[in-house]
Amino acid sequence: MKIKDLVRPDLLSMKSYTPIEPVDVLSRRVELPLGRVVKLDGNENPYGCSPEAYAALACYSDYHIYPDPEQRDLKQALAQYVGFDAKYIVCGSGSDDLIDLVNRLFVGPGDEVINCPPTFGMYPFSAEICGAKVINIDRDSQFVLDVPNVVRVLENKGKVLFIASPNNPTGNLISEQELVEILNTGKIVVVDEAYFEFSRVTVANLVHSYSNLIILRTFSKWAGLAGLRVGYSISSPEVAGYLMKIKQPYNVNSAAKVAVLASLHDIDYLTANVQKIITERSRLFDKLEGLGWLKPYPSSANFVLCLVLPGQQARGIWLRLQQRGIAIRYFDNPRLKDYLRISVGNSDDTDAVIEALRAEYRRN
Ligand SMILES: Cc1ncc(COP(=O)(O)O)c(C=O)c1O
Repeated sequence: MKIKDLVRPDLLSMKSYTPIEPVDVLSRRVELPLGRVVKLDGNENPYGCSPEAYAALACYSDYHIYPDPEQRDLKQALAQYVGFDAKYIVCGSGSDDLIDLVNRLFVGPGDEVINCPPTFGMYPFSAEICGAKVINIDRDSQFVLDVPNVVRVLENKGKVLFIASPNNPTGNLISEQELVEILNTGKIVVVDEAYFEFSRVTVANLVHSYSNLIILRTFSKWAGLAGLRVGYSISSPEVAGYLMKIKQPYNVNSAAKVAVLASLHDIDYLTANVQKIITERSRLFDKLEGLGWLKPYPSSANFVLCLVLPGQQARGIWLRLQQRGIAIRYFDNPRLKDYLRISVGNSDDTDAVIEALRAEYRRN
């Protein structure tokens, strides 16, 4: 018996998702102590999570009990934070879980999912696992969505469209007016606001008028809980009901719940960290631009995408920075082969990455 013959053929030929290298693995590979590694490749929060979340996790005594499948406490606390009633909200194990649930709810083998690259790789990955055919509608040279084309395609085909706003890795937003044009096609439109707290721009208010709109958010970025995996959706209660119906009963674990509830008690602390990141983003941007051989793109998120101007090789710089213990993101695909994405860290992180980039330029 060959296991391979039993696996779905479409999954055998599917391209895997390329994740980032864990920091301890990188530190061993480049033979530098863990403390010397500057991690700017995962859009994580350099300030960690709220001290109240740490304290609550240490005190919690019911880890031996299954969490609430109805997510009552979480939804109630989130309802206050987002300004929507609990019946609009569904929580997941990271927003990745919600991406997967949306695809599983609406997409079956042969259905079409619209993707607008360059964007977050989880959308086509999850759609393909559901057997979908992914239709790519490329962003333009400045990474702006081609809205007329998206609308034209959606009017003829496609069931679900994913848009990240701010988009990862480009950092730009979709306008409300553009989104309304897309929503009027009546197809399912997912607006992934994973970086909302850094942009402070949301289209969630449209959920009241459009039952085909699903907003995704996460605690991974602004609240520093990437390792605990908590995200949520805001959608019409009807869609929320179906998502609740098909989700794994215990998809959000107890530690994640405890940390979220504590974080929502400590919003001022977390917001102050978000503000530090926003301030550092503009310092990082200026310094990258000042190098003279990188073109950073304005970003509404916690990372900056840079075009590496001719004369330098993005891939080579990425690899050599790793040797110096500095992890940034390179995307191994033709559209982004000349780009690097750098997450916003603290001011020491900015100084370290700029110093390393300067040294690399001198070497060329
Ligand atoms: C646009 C976007 N959506 C979702 C995620 C994943 O978020 P989570 O950690 O909640 O699964 C990311 C992570 O980088 C992202 O960039």
